[in-house]
Amino acid sequence: MTLTEKIDLLGGTGFGTRAIPRLGVPALQMTDGPVGVRNFGPAIAYPAPVCLAACFDPELARQYGVAIGKDCRSNGAHVWLGPGVNLSRVPQNGRNFEYFGEDPFLASRTAVNVVEGVQSQGVAATVKHFAANDEEADRTENSSNVDERTLRELYLKPFDAAIQEGGAWAVMAAYNKLNGAWCAENPWLLTTVLKEDWGFHGVAMSDWGATRSLVPSLNAGLDLDMGSGGFFNNVLVPPVVSSGQVSVAVVDDKVRRILRLIYSNDFDKRPQLDSSISHDDPANEAVALQIAREGTVLLKNRGGLLPLDPGRKRMILVVGPNAEKAVTGGGGSSYIDPIRKISLLEAIQAQAGPHDTVLYEPLTDGKIPAAEVRSADVIIAVVGFNKEIEGEGRDRSFGLPLAQESMLEQIVALNPRVVVVNNSGAGVDMSAWVDKAGAIIQGWYPGGTGNQAIAEILFGKVNPSGKLPVSFPRTLKSTYYETAYPPVNGQVDYKEGLFMGYRWFDQNKVDPLFPFGFGLSYTTFRMDRFRFDPAGKDSATLTVHIRNTGRREGTETIQVYVHPKASQVVRPVKELKAFQRVSLKAGEDANVAIPLKLADVAYFDVKAHKWVLEPGRYDLLVGTSSRNLPLKGYLQIGP
Ligand code: BGC
Repeated sequence: MTLTEKIDLLGGTGFGTRAIPRLGVPALQMTDGPVGVRNFGPAIAYPAPVCLAACFDPELARQYGVAIGKDCRSNGAHVWLGPGVNLSRVPQNGRNFEYFGEDPFLASRTAVNVVEGVQSQGVAATVKHFAANDEEADRTENSSNVDERTLRELYLKPFDAAIQEGGAWAVMAAYNKLNGAWCAENPWLLTTVLKEDWGFHGVAMSDWGATRSLVPSLNAGLDLDMGSGGFFNNVLVPPVVSSGQVSVAVVDDKVRRILRLIYSNDFDKRPQLDSSISHDDPANEAVALQIAREGTVLLKNRGGLLPLDPGRKRMILVVGPNAEKAVTGGGGSSYIDPIRKISLLEAIQAQAGPHDTVLYEPLTDGKIPAAEVRSADVIIAVVGFNKEIEGEGRDRSFGLPLAQESMLEQIVALNPRVVVVNNSGAGVDMSAWVDKAGAIIQGWYPGGTGNQAIAEILFGKVNPSGKLPVSFPRTLKSTYYETAYPPVNGQVDYKEGLFMGYRWFDQNKVDPLFPFGFGLSYTTFRMDRFRFDPAGKDSATLTVHIRNTGRREGTETIQVYVHPKASQVVRPVKELKAFQRVSLKAGEDANVAIPLKLADVAYFDVKAHKWVLEPGRYDLLVGTSSRNLPLKGYLQIGP
């Protein structure tokens, strides 16, 4: 290969790389990511990834990956720009909906399965945005300042898992600086951690236009300058190679990585476009719908207001701006133009019983028809953000748009039977209406057809089973969120350290509005005991006895949190380390085996520069949310 040919490989061409026809090296075609396949026109719009995380269902995450891998193949894409695995540190982050919530263990389990699913179809996955790109406003200028232990145990963890366990072929360096150095020219991030500690053999590409320099980026470990090689090109690179500022060995390593990605995936041997696969495979749309069914979270249900019994004659008043328009996804580069879409109003009309009358009033003009609101048998208020308000490149407020907040406050005062359905990627300020609302459903962004799932939940055809992958605070006041956002002078200081999300609420003994891991069902479950097989060398198995004590079939997620009794270092009060969904018929019980990997309870010793699994006793807390953990036991590691 000539130096010119090598350098040609290092810069993108928009959404791809250059071919070298003389050597039979094919061009790579890429596509966004991560809510489906964006770059080829209308496509299946999957629910937001945060909804996938809310499923607590690694097997479904794998199916999502497989479906997206097929969507890529049906369009000839070699590289999928997903999954996004940044953690949900503050609710304002415009891209929270693209990620897997606040907990590194849940995000890791989800990410590993998505990556394996995508890559099983002969498509390379790209974990992004590396790293600590946890808010959007001024993302290209801000520095995320995070201590190493917090990085290793929280923010880098899902990348680590997606790469070392999931085998992701690519990683995307973020726009922001990490501890003062741009991610795309950060040698600690791209070389020490990614390539040396994790042994990554794939390609480190920049986010689009995130490369800020030539020599520092080349030497820091960035392999591919995307989107259009503004720095890594045949005008700028040859002189710095001739002058010795960048060695040929450094260029060769990048070329090898790109070629390794191409050859290991047989991209030179077969056409990536597989026209036997449909762009619009009903099996993939079924996966999307299933994610919305499992990931929609029932947050409140006073007096069994839901589900709406189909037999009764009722006047259902649907209100709110997000009812009539199909709100399918958040905004920015992940937004998919859905092949099929359905608004929640249409979905409600389709699911309503023969005796129901469904009326729609947007109620966005500030005028509330009091008599109509009072007399409705039930009101379904569909609120939240949309792709114009919550999305990439900007942040959103914690509060809902004022008109929505005031509408909700007024209608809950007039009628106790208000069901609020909310679209957002993380918590919103519910304080003005949460106590009076009859029921609340967190609908995230449900994708093209996911509003059908929400309507099925409203009318009881589907029993909700989603669990919050992120804490919903009652208020930001007097919490870490208050000082965490907005940044001051471009410095995003992660002062809360490890105590982010539920770890902060636990440490400070503050009750969130709705805790991490929480979500209601139309049935009830009881866990009464668990058995614990003594820990082996690498893993242990808990067997939890659980019974569906209600009157209908349902699904619960058993969650296992761990805390070391004594430790050399400060540890969070508890951390999620295992979980398992289980579906049971009314009255049915089961002994559910849940594997726990011991390595997952290690901490990162910054001085020794390694993970340390301390011997001793660990408390095990088992239950159905981070704040409902009725079963306690302990695990002994080592002597
Ligand atoms: C986003 C990436 C995306 C890329 C290509 C950037 O603005 O941050 O997530 O993959 O654009 O569209």
